[in-house]
Amino acid sequence: MLKLGLIVAALVFCANTAWVRQEPIASQAASSAAHVVSSTQTQQKNPVKPTPESTARARMIYGYDCAACHGVKGDGKGDLAKDIALTVPDFTDPATLKNKTDEELFNSIKDGKGKMPAEGDRAKTEELWGLVLYCRSFAQKTVPAQGTTAK
Ligand code: HEC
Repeated sequence: MLKLGLIVAALVFCANTAWVRQEPIASQAASSAAHVVSSTQTQQKNPVKPTPESTARARMIYGYDCAACHGVKGDGKGDLAKDIALTVPDFTDPATLKNKTDEELFNSIKDGKGKMPAEGDRAKTEELWGLVLYCRSFAQKTVPAQGTTAK
């Protein structure tokens, strides 16, 4: 009887830890998804706040998919842009993106614009918002993209 009790206790314990491990991720995803939906409806601001993780992620995607044209520094002088003589906006100039809303930039990155190919489903919604922030960061004096001291 005592043995059975121990087994039951052990099972309950395992089930609990499994639940504890999964729950925060699921609820995080749900709340951020809700956030994104509600804010895209109301013509808005970027729902994603930059964290060292989201910035690192944006930097990685940017390096793979964007730097060839936009340049590692965001100056629009990537190798591919040079090779095909493509004029790419200079994000280091604060005037470039100043009058664009976050939503406009989000849509341009997701769906493409002019000669720029669509990122489409290659990046998740949060990652696209992260890229919006990352593109804007090139025009800031203190580039968060390079200031990831938190660790
Ligand atoms: C093949 C070259 C190329 C690649 C790759 C590319 N872009 Fe662009 N991007 C451009 C060009 C050209 C424009 C200017 C488009 C226009 O205004 O007609 C542009 C414009 C933009 C703009 C301004 C959009 C606006 O609404 O004015 C943003 C933001 C941007 N790109 C981000 C990105 C990001 C993020 C990536 C990677 C996921 C990326 N681009 C990949 C060439 C590229």
